[in-house]
Amino acid sequence: MCRSPAGSVSTKPCASVPSELAELTAAIAWVRQARHIAVLTGAGVSAESGVPTFRDAQTGYWAQFRAEDMATPEGFRAHPQQVWDWYQFRRSLVAQVQPNAAHRALAAFAQQHPERITLVTQNVDGLHQRAGSPQVLCLHGDLLRNRWLDRPCPHCDLENTVDAHPPYCDACGNRVRPDVVWFGEPLPLAVLDAAQAAARACDLMLVVGTAGAVYPAAGLAHSARAAGARVVVVNTAASALDDVAHAVLRGTAAAVVPALLGV
Ligand code: APR
Repeated sequence: MCRSPAGSVSTKPCASVPSELAELTAAIAWVRQARHIAVLTGAGVSAESGVPTFRDAQTGYWAQFRAEDMATPEGFRAHPQQVWDWYQFRRSLVAQVQPNAAHRALAAFAQQHPERITLVTQNVDGLHQRAGSPQVLCLHGDLLRNRWLDRPCPHCDLENTVDAHPPYCDACGNRVRPDVVWFGEPLPLAVLDAAQAAARACDLMLVVGTAGAVYPAAGLAHSARAAGARVVVVNTAASALDDVAHAVLRGTAAAVVPALLGV
């Protein structure tokens, strides 16, 4: 069975072409034709760089740590040192890895066709930026940045904190926290607005390496589809967004994305 370029699933056999090859060929043609491409990436795009994903049953972060202990404001207030040290561990891990072929292909495409692509990521690892992608819309923040946990007092200064785990303000005790979006927190509004505008305006959305389980990020694929764009999923396994897609490309991001973008 093949999916037609128009999006409906055809019951006609794909002649002698394996359906996966037919889907890849169709998706490459959609990339060439697209006026504007929105790309949504998730942890899978960094997996081949050596950054663990979140929901993998064996190696994912949430297989070892409870999300509500590590990635919520309540978890940080209850266990500040444990959560801070976990983020410091993730920072040291990310500092040791390199962008892979998928990050590099997206960056090269953006450099060649700056007006044709908007890159939206759920990742906080900075690998898209390190690969050279300009203007990455980081929906879930930036692992390498800090901010204050509570409203800063006049003496709160991120450059001048008491060196502790986590650092804090000498004057008021306000703690430093990583500038990432935790569960239950709102996404940065301007970033989300820009991502949603790109999803509604694009004629092709590539959804790369995300389980599609976390909203509002996953909703971008639904918005793109509802607005008439083609949607292509790139993932090594089934995702919650497969049903939204016109083509599902099973493979690693590092192998499929460069082939798709032709860079
Ligand atoms: N290439 C492509 N896809 C891959 C690869 C790879 N090499 N390796 C794994 N994947 C896929 C998995 O099959 C899975 O669908 O990447 C996806 C990773 O899913 P998650 O771990 O759930 O990550 P993500 O979807 O980015 O999570 C969204 O959840 O915990 C929060 O804030 C966190 O931003 C994160 C959000």
